[in-house]
Amino acid sequence: MSSATKPELIDSFGRTVRDLRISVTDRCNFRCTYCMPEEGMVWLPRTEVLTYEEIARVARICVERFGVDGIRLTGGEPTVRAHLTKLISALAVLTVPAAANSPLAGQPIDVAVTTNGATLALVAADLQRAGLRRINVSLDTLNREKFKQITKRDELASVLEGIDAAIAVGMAPVKVNAVVQRGVNDDEIIALATFGREKNIEVRFIEFMPLDAQAGWLNNAVVGQDEIVSTINEVFALEQIASRGAAPADRWRYLDGKGTVGVIPTVTKPFCGDCDRVRLTADGQFRTCLFATDEFDVRALLRNGASDDAIEALLRRAVGEKWAGHTIGQVSFVRPRRSMSQIGG
Ligand code: GTP
Ligand code: 5AD
Ligand code: SF4
Repeated sequence: MSSATKPELIDSFGRTVRDLRISVTDRCNFRCTYCMPEEGMVWLPRTEVLTYEEIARVARICVERFGVDGIRLTGGEPTVRAHLTKLISALAVLTVPAAANSPLAGQPIDVAVTTNGATLALVAADLQRAGLRRINVSLDTLNREKFKQITKRDELASVLEGIDAAIAVGMAPVKVNAVVQRGVNDDEIIALATFGREKNIEVRFIEFMPLDAQAGWLNNAVVGQDEIVSTINEVFALEQIASRGAAPADRWRYLDGKGTVGVIPTVTKPFCGDCDRVRLTADGQFRTCLFATDEFDVRALLRNGASDDAIEALLRRAVGEKWAGHTIGQVSFVRPRRSMSQIGG
C-alpha cells in the first residue's frame, strides 16, 4: 500500500478518479463512419498491445491504491480480442478497498463492457459466466439499409439478437448507445426510444463528437440534448431524474412508467466538471481525458520491470495534470491525434 492513508486519487480541480476505461483492442469488425475510416486503418502491432496480465496489473493498482470502483472495457470492439472472458474473470475478483470513499467499499468492483453487439448472441452467456453483470450496446438505427450505411456492415439482425441475448442471460442493466447525427439518423429518435421502451432497456442518445477518423465532424451535424429531449417529450412525456453524479448521461423517466431514457450531451452541455474518468489505451497509454492531447506511457514502465509504486507515481502525475475539460466549439480546441477507436470510447 502506498503512503496515502486513503485509497484515492484527486485531480487539481478536486475531482476524484473512480472510473477506469480500458481499451482492450483498437480493432473492430465494424467501420462506423463517426469513428473509423472505411478502409486503410492501420492496426497496432500485436507486440504493442498490452497483455491481459499487464492490463490486470494496472487495474489492480488503480483499485487498490486509488479506490477505483468501476472498470469498463471498450475497444475498438472488445469482443474481437481473443479470450476476453479471461480478463473479465481477472477483473471481476477485484474488490474495492474497505477504506475507499465509495458506495462499493468492501465489495467487488463494477465491471462493464461497451460493445457493438455483433457477436453478443454468441458470447453473452460466456461473458456472464466470467462475471460480467452489465453491458452497453451501440445501436444507431433500426433500419437495415441505414445500418449498413453507418457501420459499413450488414449486421443489424445480429446486433438485435445480441441485445436480446444479453437480456436473456440476465445482464442488468443492458443499455443502448445511439450516436445522433443530423441528416443521418435524427429521424429515428422516436423509433429508438420506442425500442427501448418495448425492451425495457435504457437508450442513451449521444451527441456526435469530433473524434471521427476522417475529421469530418461539423458542429451542425450535432443534434443537441434539448432537441433530442423535446422530440421525445412530444410523443412520450418525460420527467428529468435529478442528479447524474459523475456519469456522462443525463436521464429522464417516461411519465407513463415505461422506463428511462438518457442523453450524453458532450458538446452542448459538457459534464467535465464532474468527470471521474481516466483511460488506458490498448497500447498502454494512460489518458486523463477523451480529448487529451497528452498520453503517459504506462507500457514502458510495465515492460521495464517498474514497481507498483513507480506505476502509481506516473498515474498520479498524469491525473495531477488533468485539465478542466474539453474546449469543443472554442478556438482553443485541438482534435486529439487519435480517433475514437484508437482511444477507446
Ligand atoms: P454507464 O456506467 O453505463 O453510464 O457507462 P458510460 O455511459 O460511461 O459508458 P459507455 O461506454 O456506454 O459510454 C457511452 C458514451 O459516453 C461514450 O461512447 C462516449 O460517447 C461518452 N463518454 C463516456 N465517457 C466520456 C467522457 O469521459 N467524456 C465524454 N465527453 N464522453 C464520454
Ligand atoms: N461521437 C460520439 N460517440 C462516439 N462513439 C464513437 N465515436 C463517436 C463519436 N465521434 C461511441 C459509440 C459507442 C462508443 C464506443 O463510442 O457509439 O457507443
Ligand atoms: Fe472528462 Fe475529458 Fe470527457 Fe470532459 S471530455 S468528461 S474531462 S474525459
